[in-house]
Amino acid sequence: MTEQTLVLIKPDGLKKSLTGNILTRLSETKLEIVAVKITRVSRELAEEHYQQMKEKPFFKELIGYIRGELHQRHKVMAMVYWGEGAIAKVRQLTGSTNPEEADPVSIRGAYGRITTKGIYENVIHTSTDKKEAEREIKLWFSPDEIIVKNMYPIKIVEESKAKKRIWA
Ligand code: PPS
Repeated sequence: MTEQTLVLIKPDGLKKSLTGNILTRLSETKLEIVAVKITRVSRELAEEHYQQMKEKPFFKELIGYIRGELHQRHKVMAMVYWGEGAIAKVRQLTGSTNPEEADPVSIRGAYGRITTKGIYENVIHTSTDKKEAEREIKLWFSPDEIIVKNMYPIKIVEESKAKKRIWA
């Protein structure tokens, strides 16, 4: 089944210059990258992304981590991978959430670590299932940022006269 999944290379992945290595590993899937951007992560975006983890004792650290507070890299690389069985293929290469338990040749197994405070620094986020992928992709990307048209249903709205920056 053709599907899509969100991939985030987290601030530790960027700081450790792992982008190339991670993209090379993910290219083994032969999936297509249909959206990509480097973006800052606002507190609102981070908290919405990890909404299911709100009650966890490490929630504050999780938010700080994805916002780059632990690595002085206040951005992530966000991508949408698209193709046959995309979610499972990407999860397979990513490895288990806990980097100590992840297959050593997986991305998290090779590059992740657990801090002395017990926080996972697992360099990459990938969607767990179709429902989460849809929620996350809609959160991180607007329809116009994705090259596949109408990946999810869209609607047209009238823009207000908001100011925006354009090239001078
Ligand atoms: S998963 O992959 O979504 O099924 O994993 P889950 O166990 O539900 O974890 C959801 C996110 O919480 C992060 N997590 C932690 N962060 C820091 N410290 C600890 N102990 C910890 N346990 C779980 C985990 O990395 C998941 O975020 P992502 O971005 O998917 O890695």
